[in-house]
Amino acid sequence: MVVLAMAALGSATAGAQTRHQQPDLSKMPWMNKSLSPDQRADLVVKQMTLDEKIQMVHGDGWGVLRPGAPLDPRSNFGAGFVHGIDRLGIPDLNLADSAVGIRMAAYQGRYATLLPSTLAAACSWDTDAAFLYGSVIGRELRDQGFNMTIGGGVDIMREPRNGRNFEYAGEDPVLAGTMDGYVEKGVLAQHVMSDVKHYAFNDQETGRTEVNVLLDKKAMRESDLLAFQVAIGISDPSGVMCSYNLVNNDYACENDYLLNQVLKKDFHFKGFVLSDWGGTHTTVKAALNGLDEEMPGDDGYFAAPLKQAVLDGKVPQSRLDDMVHRILRSMFAAGVVDNPPIRTVVDPFQGRDDAKHIEEESIVLLKNQDSILPLKAAPSESIALIGGHADVAVLSGGGSAQVDAPNGDAVHPREGGARWGVPVYFPSSPLKYIRKKSPDATISYNDGTDTAAAAEFAKKSSVAIVFVTQWMSEGRDAHTLSLPHNQDALVEAVAAANPNTIVVLETGGPVSMPWADKVKGIVEAWYPGIGGAQALSNILFGTINPSGKLAATFAKDDAQLPHPQIVGMDASTRHGAVYIDGKGHKTQTFDLHYTAGAAVGYKWFEQQHEQPLFPFGFGLSYTTYAYSGLTVDDAARTVHFTVRNTGTRKGTEIAEVYAKLPTAAHEDYKRLVAWQRVELAPGESKDVTLTLNPLYLSVFDTAKDGWQLLPGDYKILAGASSNETPLEATLHVAQ
Ligand code: BGC
Repeated sequence: MVVLAMAALGSATAGAQTRHQQPDLSKMPWMNKSLSPDQRADLVVKQMTLDEKIQMVHGDGWGVLRPGAPLDPRSNFGAGFVHGIDRLGIPDLNLADSAVGIRMAAYQGRYATLLPSTLAAACSWDTDAAFLYGSVIGRELRDQGFNMTIGGGVDIMREPRNGRNFEYAGEDPVLAGTMDGYVEKGVLAQHVMSDVKHYAFNDQETGRTEVNVLLDKKAMRESDLLAFQVAIGISDPSGVMCSYNLVNNDYACENDYLLNQVLKKDFHFKGFVLSDWGGTHTTVKAALNGLDEEMPGDDGYFAAPLKQAVLDGKVPQSRLDDMVHRILRSMFAAGVVDNPPIRTVVDPFQGRDDAKHIEEESIVLLKNQDSILPLKAAPSESIALIGGHADVAVLSGGGSAQVDAPNGDAVHPREGGARWGVPVYFPSSPLKYIRKKSPDATISYNDGTDTAAAAEFAKKSSVAIVFVTQWMSEGRDAHTLSLPHNQDALVEAVAAANPNTIVVLETGGPVSMPWADKVKGIVEAWYPGIGGAQALSNILFGTINPSGKLAATFAKDDAQLPHPQIVGMDASTRHGAVYIDGKGHKTQTFDLHYTAGAAVGYKWFEQQHEQPLFPFGFGLSYTTYAYSGLTVDDAARTVHFTVRNTGTRKGTEIAEVYAKLPTAAHEDYKRLVAWQRVELAPGESKDVTLTLNPLYLSVFDTAKDGWQLLPGDYKILAGASSNETPLEATLHVAQ
């Protein structure tokens, strides 16, 4: 949908952010900071003309995203621009894609930090790391003159081959919602408006504008919608971006159930709903069903047609006022009116250090046979690095989450910004940092393009590290869980040649590993960000003890998934209806029945009695931990247990608590309900007390249209992963 070509950026004045005449703000009653954001918004709305209101509820067009599209001279060269109301002191909205760092910085010669993927950060299970993540994004947006992010992906991983999983936070609604909630809090703390997206069920890219997701309400509320509910509850975000797809026969951006009934009524969402770019299809229906802002705006549903609809009484004036109120109150709440961004030079060093820290907590150690890791820094060691461009770089994810690399690309340096559909490598060299860790060892690199030569090369070293990559992007899904480009064969060949083979994965999401039994070490580094090589070398050599745990199940192969093939990828799986939009355009939609219902990821595997390759919540450390003494306090709904470091290194264990609901819930899987990162010195024990949130124990009762905490016995399980819960106790919930 969004194609990048920058031919449009010819104008010398464009993006120069022409300074407009500032009105005397001190005289305006809504500048009184002691009033609430809602009161301030109401005062502004009262002053606005119909035209001004209409101007606020749509963007100014595709701008930089489409060659030849007009660009407002005040635009800051982001993906979106909404003209402010100068006479009332209401600033423009300058929105930037910034899921894993700020997109399109190159076009203005700016720098932006590439963070680890949000999926990586979710594997830290660390809300402080998530907050820091959002802070980096907010800080750099401010520095660059933007006042709103349009990152914040929280669609749960129903489809492990989804091209955008790296922009999301994994398969569990509570973990994903919590982590994204803290990211958004971090953004807001920088006085930048936040966003949560893509609402909802945008769980695959295949047919993303035609797919009609079919699910019952109970399954919806207990899965994907719960992730949004949690994120929104934690962060009170400025915006929620509705998605491209249809849900139960209505487009998400004109879906009364999703927008009015669930988001605004049940979730008490006070901000505004903005459409994904080009995701608006009607005027009256969309406005009445809850859309507040058409983006990027030049499809013309919310400009002149909305004005006419208001004049004709088809959309009540009160509804237009509500749309504008929601936008304004979010601006006041975030502080973009009182504390507008002041441009400065982004601090790349701080950004790199923050990205490195997050990655150090995000890397997941999946296998460590014979304690092959950590590596020893000894002159006698020889290490063969193979593949993945590990001599110079780390991989990043594509699409609108793409961040521009310094120098264009570390593998093929080039002028200008990233191009749609072309993978971008960042200058963070694993070879360089591994050499720094062990300066006297023999450390060499082979690019891995010739499998036989790579195997020969590996034979000559005491340890071989194969770097495998899986490039993923918006707009496309992977056909299979298999690594692309013959990399499975490369790993097999190297493992056959060298018994001490370690695999480092830089992937967008889960992949299959048919060679898992043949290698000694497996390290999932995800898209590791600009501090990736330092973080990885710190993990490989044990400077940092790995603590990350999987935010998603790794299936053995595609056959284990609810949909062994992605629905819609093959034309024969596209069955649906014709949708005609407000302008008479026809779309052939197709149905996607999410038969797994709310049983996503580990829940599905448990229900099916299938063993995955690596379970949700799993991750190793260089030390070991023991769990003991689980007790439950029924009245306080707290759980207590002890975690002990039984090894010889300091480490941080993510202790996980799951619940199995009473039989009346008819739920044949457990749910994650709480967790804590526990930092432990060797031999140290700590008591953990966690309070259970009743929402996470509740079922959605469709008949009552609400959540219900069923009376009965809840089995509480605690341990190191979804597959390893040695502690059990019962929580009694009274009638
Ligand atoms: C993506 C959004 C993005 C928007 C603007 C769309 O194609 O789905 O996530 O924010 O483009 O670039």
